[in-house]
Amino acid sequence: MPNDTLSITDNRTGKTYEIPVVDDTIRAMDLRQIKVNAGDFGLMPYDPGYTNTAACKSRITFIDGDKGILEYRGYPIDQLAEKSTFLEVAYLLYYGELPTKEQLQTWTNAITTHTLLHENTKGFMGGFHHDAHPMGMFISTIAALSTFYPEAKDIFNPETRLRQINRLMAKVPTVAAFAFRHQLGMPYAYPDNDLSYSGNFLNMLFKKTEVKFQPNPVLERALDVLFILHADHEQSCSTSSMRLVGSAQTDPYSCLAAAAAALYGPLHGGANEAVLLMLQEIGSKDRIPEFIQKIKNGQGRLMGFGHRVYKNYDPRAKIIKETADQVFEVTGRNPLLDIAIELERIALQDEYFVKRRLYPNVDFYSGIIYQAMGFPTEMFPVLFAIPRTIGWLTQWEEMLLDEEQKIGRPRQVYLGPTQRDYVAMHLRSQ
Ligand code: CMC
Repeated sequence: MPNDTLSITDNRTGKTYEIPVVDDTIRAMDLRQIKVNAGDFGLMPYDPGYTNTAACKSRITFIDGDKGILEYRGYPIDQLAEKSTFLEVAYLLYYGELPTKEQLQTWTNAITTHTLLHENTKGFMGGFHHDAHPMGMFISTIAALSTFYPEAKDIFNPETRLRQINRLMAKVPTVAAFAFRHQLGMPYAYPDNDLSYSGNFLNMLFKKTEVKFQPNPVLERALDVLFILHADHEQSCSTSSMRLVGSAQTDPYSCLAAAAAALYGPLHGGANEAVLLMLQEIGSKDRIPEFIQKIKNGQGRLMGFGHRVYKNYDPRAKIIKETADQVFEVTGRNPLLDIAIELERIALQDEYFVKRRLYPNVDFYSGIIYQAMGFPTEMFPVLFAIPRTIGWLTQWEEMLLDEEQKIGRPRQVYLGPTQRDYVAMHLRSQ
């Protein structure tokens, strides 16, 4: 009997099956042959939340959740955060290798030339209510961009695809900044292509009447590091949404809007907003034990803690904590930091969190930095969506070019009523 197989004995029939094991996985379709009788549909795996189902093969991002390791194309996240820039990391994610100087220049130019939005975009963004959530504006505007670039539907043309990728990379900060300024009632600030990716974003957010905006280099670098940390995270909820919608061969703008919508949720990219609200609700260090008790009693979750994959300290949270110190030297210390540090200290000693292997995740400290930099909490998921754009697009392209991929379409276990005849209204009892 070959070693790389799994023997399964079906105790309902006494039959034994040999299922091939490849890359430590079995194919779900190989289970379908396991039947009680010829008319039987066959066995299916049941996996709500896809907790143990690999839906693709990928060569982009590696996570070892037990050891707290995150690597993009094999490069450890801490090395990239320390030595690289966001656009270089974006190149690495997309092309698979670090760029030469010339390659980086070409990539940067290709993205920089697309930073402007069609003027009509301002028209419909202006139609949002003054207090519209910027993530709602972001999602809708990204979806609307598909109407400006109908060629984007030609998804199997490599040149067209790359043009949309460059466009999306370039335009997401502009859309995000316009959504931010809409809320403040400030005139939109146009991109300044002399600045770096993060520097230009700060310009579009915070420029007032000065002729040329000069980003603070510490904040510019901090934002770049945060962008690096958020660029990809393998098959997260939003990335899986990108792949799922993309599997129907939808254009990349509409797919990205769907991915961003998934990111909006409080259990995913909305968690950093939820962390800030939680810290504000706690209000002072002396109220932490009472708050922890509430969580342990099942009244809510400790936001910014826990992760589907990491059962150890999220490596991104470590780097963010260091970045926070640099930011606070410029902006002044965010008083919520003391509550967060104390909350982390208490939670990491508490049996409830220890037993469930709940550690701070990327969102626990990022919101505190964003707030100190002058962002309202509603902007936090938008700040996550900007760098994740390249991760989504890279994963989308990998899916499109993967010959094994098909339209995503899970199965269900039907537990509803069996077939019955329609009953006329006057014959129905309550
Ligand atoms: N606070 C309190 N208890 C928790 C938490 C938490 N943050 N997270 C998990 N648990 C408990 C949960 O109640 C369950 O306990 P029990 O076994 O007694 O029922 C156990 O831990 C396992 O939880 P789970 O819900 O099965 O774990 P999951 O893998 O489905 O959920 C998660 C992962 C991130 C959704 C969850 O940990 C959570 O809701 N965290 C808070 C929200 C958050 O910070 N999200 C950001 C994730 S990182 C950024 C990103 O990648 O999007």
